[in-house]
Amino acid sequence: MKLLAYAKINLGLHVLARRPDGFHDLETVFHQINLFDEIEILPHNILEFSTESRDVPRDSSNLCLRAATLLQQRHRVSSGARIRLNKRIPVGAGLGGGSSDAAAVLKGLTRHWNLGLSPSILHDLAAQIGSDVPFFLEGGTSFATGRGDKLNAFKLRVPYWILVVTPPIHVSTAWAYSNLELSASGVNYDLRASLVRMMEDSRRGELLMNDFEPMVFSAHPEIRAIKESMLQEGARFALLSGSGSSVFGLFTEENRARAAAKPFPANHTISLTEPNFRPESH
Ligand code: C5P
Repeated sequence: MKLLAYAKINLGLHVLARRPDGFHDLETVFHQINLFDEIEILPHNILEFSTESRDVPRDSSNLCLRAATLLQQRHRVSSGARIRLNKRIPVGAGLGGGSSDAAAVLKGLTRHWNLGLSPSILHDLAAQIGSDVPFFLEGGTSFATGRGDKLNAFKLRVPYWILVVTPPIHVSTAWAYSNLELSASGVNYDLRASLVRMMEDSRRGELLMNDFEPMVFSAHPEIRAIKESMLQEGARFALLSGSGSSVFGLFTEENRARAAAKPFPANHTISLTEPNFRPESH
């Protein structure tokens, strides 16, 4: 069985408050882009994982293995599986690659082992693996609250070319949250309404923010420089994705977006998504 695990960007991200369980409540819009990992699941008597990527951990922090082991144990599955990962989404980049892989493995193994699990059981398993894993079960575009696991359908057309540039910098999500200075202001704007306005008129993105930008930019000025470069090259809007290190820019013209990707050296990962993109199966 072959599966595609698509990456996401965050169209705005507001961190509200630290919770007693150590996580943070947030508001964001997850939006999948045309960049994906490939996962293959083959019959096998034990669980086995392989990848050629040097960035993917081989220990218990590997999210594909965590997903497979959790499913196997909870549902007392006696067989295993061979999981192969072709990693194309950069790691530690704010694009949800590991979470998307985990969701694909959960869905794939549920079918492979004929478990017939309900969406709500899968959602609960996904949330145990990571805050944004539940989003990738359905994918597409979603307005998320809670720690990122409470999902609300949000139909949004993004009529722009989306350029994503990832420098060779890994930003740890845990580090980013623990260094974040929370503003006491709360959310004083409606994220969904301002996104809808921005999709109609690209000059109206001024309210769309990512609360991680100030501290991530001050720790890594080269990430701020990517945003500035994109804006200089004609992006209508540019923003950090998740806790970084990726920056995305929205462009009205394909050739402008391609030109904006040119200044970055080969150690940067570049991806370009066409307007109104929907991943396969949507
Ligand atoms: O859920 P996930 O494993 O992706 O989160 C990684 C780390 O990021 C958590 O251990 C936590 O420190 C932080 N985090 C948070 N609030 C969230 C999501 C993540 O504090 N909503």
